[in-house]
Amino acid sequence: MSYDLLKGKRGIIFGALDENSIAWKTAERVHSEGGTFVLTNAPVAMRMGQIKTLAEQTGSEVIPADATNQEDLENLVSRSVEILGGKLDFVLHSIGMSINVRKGRHYTDEKYDFTAKGWDISALSFHRVMQTLYKADAMNEWGSIVALTYMAAQRTFPDYNDMADNKAYLESVARSFGYFFGKEKKVRVNTISQSPTATTAGSGVKGFDGFISYAEKMSPLGNASAQDCADFTVSLFSDLTRKVTMQNLFHDGGFSNTGVSQEVIEKFE
Ligand code: NAI
Repeated sequence: MSYDLLKGKRGIIFGALDENSIAWKTAERVHSEGGTFVLTNAPVAMRMGQIKTLAEQTGSEVIPADATNQEDLENLVSRSVEILGGKLDFVLHSIGMSINVRKGRHYTDEKYDFTAKGWDISALSFHRVMQTLYKADAMNEWGSIVALTYMAAQRTFPDYNDMADNKAYLESVARSFGYFFGKEKKVRVNTISQSPTATTAGSGVKGFDGFISYAEKMSPLGNASAQDCADFTVSLFSDLTRKVTMQNLFHDGGFSNTGVSQEVIEKFE
């Protein structure tokens, strides 16, 4: 169902790799609510992904940008404003990657070059994106910026590895930049802490299948899907949430406030 919640709004969506990506589902949902946007991803992901199909489906242009590259981001922001015909109302940061996880390095055996690169991609890039938008004065008043995170920022999940630290940093950046973006430009900044979701990035976490089933059993409403996340993000991009900012919003079917569920207890009886 569509409510025209984003009619006339313009934005940038980072991170749609394939149709499982949370950003992919979000782009489709934003399109159905009347929003227009530019799609972007790292140049290397463009070759692997199917972003062109999504662009055709949603009438969008694609501009490659490595989120760790300042020049790429400046080009992305200025071209997007040009293509869309005005300043932006929403931005989705849906980017994550740990090189230590990829290379099978345990948390107690990090290779710090990998750690630094993963942090640059997954965490600092959020600051970089916002600083680029801020300096270019590219956001409209009452615009909305959202990044995706995971609860390992607050509680330990051993196999989440250095992504836990990256997410803690990302959430802190949302609060810190949210202050300045709010004060100076009336733009809101939030992170959505999403349930485990079967995507390329999600499935990279060791033991992901057990982990997603456990979360499902622990959440009174069940895990939030990528589609659910797209719906929630649309609400945060809409004018219905104008005073929500600097928040980390749990979108996890109740997982984060559940001590234990009956189903999990029964496994041990
Ligand atoms: P995904 O693998 O579909 O998306 C990750 C995206 O990051 C890809 O499109 C990839 O190309 C992009 N990326 C990697 N390096 C980049 C770079 N240097 N510059 C620009 N883009 C780059 O996976 P998913 O799950 O949709 O991930 C989106 C976000 O959701 C990530 O921040 C992830 O940590 C977060 N998240 C995912 C959960 C899950 O279980 N899948 C749970 C909670 C949060």
